[in-house]
Amino acid sequence: MKAIVYERTGAPSVLELVDRPEPEPGPGEVLVRLAVSGVNPTDWKGRRQRPLPAGWQTPGQDGAGVVESVGAGVDQELVGERVWVWEAAWQRPWGTAAEYTVVPVRQAVPLGAASFDLGACLGIPFLTAHRCLTAGEYMPDRLHPGALSDHVVLVQGGAGAVGNATIQLAHWADACVIATVSSPEKAQLAAAAGASLVVNYREQDVVQEVRKIAPDGVHTIVEVSATRNAAADVQLLRAGGAVCVYADDGGDEVTLPIRPLMVANARWQFVLVYTAPRAAKAQAVTDVAAAVAQGGVRVGAEAGLPLHRYPLAETAAAHQAVEDSVVGKVLISTAEE
Ligand SMILES: NC(=O)c1ccc[n+]([C@@H]2O[C@H](COP(=O)([O-])OP(=O)(O)OC[C@H]3O[C@@H](n4cnc5c(N)ncnc54)[C@H](OP(=O)(O)O)[C@@H]3O)[C@@H](O)[C@H]2O)c1
Repeated sequence: MKAIVYERTGAPSVLELVDRPEPEPGPGEVLVRLAVSGVNPTDWKGRRQRPLPAGWQTPGQDGAGVVESVGAGVDQELVGERVWVWEAAWQRPWGTAAEYTVVPVRQAVPLGAASFDLGACLGIPFLTAHRCLTAGEYMPDRLHPGALSDHVVLVQGGAGAVGNATIQLAHWADACVIATVSSPEKAQLAAAAGASLVVNYREQDVVQEVRKIAPDGVHTIVEVSATRNAAADVQLLRAGGAVCVYADDGGDEVTLPIRPLMVANARWQFVLVYTAPRAAKAQAVTDVAAAVAQGGVRVGAEAGLPLHRYPLAETAAAHQAVEDSVVGKVLISTAEE
């Protein structure tokens, strides 16, 4: 099979297109013939610094394709099933920037009739978004239509991939969603994803604008840049609310005023998708699959997430685009042209 590998960490130039045998699915695993690989910031960050226990790595956590074969103990009926794949490359070398990947069966989730493009966008962004929308004390454990009907959710960074996933999932769960962005173009994307109010944080006073439709503040803040936004978040969080921090974009330290947060019984919840509790991850997979089956989540510019496509041989350019913060989602076509 054709696969992208790297044998040392570094710039995109460490990525090489090679021919290698397909992996064999071991007990409890499935072999997936990939159609599309989704690229996330974690892929380039890992390529730059994550250790290589196997001595080599194929990048790519997310992907979508068809189950080709199964290992011992896995239902043969799965062969031929269209699936989306999550965390393929987390502590394993077989990522999704290849014609095939091998994953534990729970990491290959039936996709039904949904597109491979959608399937390749689900893993990292949607599982992170789910955790951010369910980790607070007063949030539901699971998402479904109606689950957030009394909630106001503020998504800081609504045109990002995780921001888009959060808006879509929260909207599907019937929350009132507010998003912040940095430009009119990004405002259109956040609105297309389902935000009821979009605030341009470069031109408007976020606290003032949010208070116009949420005078008592918001229940949940899903935060991409706590360093920059903490002061506004503290002012906007309602009693019992939670700020769910999933990134350190714009700075890796945050200063918080203790007393107002104590009085509000507020929660600052840090989120890393890889190490989220196993039960929460399983629930996230179930709920995201349900959202897909119900048509509750989509991709493409009309859903606020423009797609950018690269062939497998141009994976280095795909990584560079994500590293350069392209707006939207970068996909790699993994099937032979
Ligand atoms: N913890 C986890 O498990 C997890 C999971 C997925 C991703 N991440 C991390 O989350 C970050 C975003 O990932 P992504 O895939 O969504 O990237 P992305 O598509 O590049 O989105 C990042 C978004 O954040 C916005 N942003 C940056 N600073 C902001 C600020 N001060 N206020 C509001 N918005 C701001 C950016 O737009 P503007 O700069 O134009 O505002 C951009 O739209 C990355 O660092 C990634 O590594 C973490």
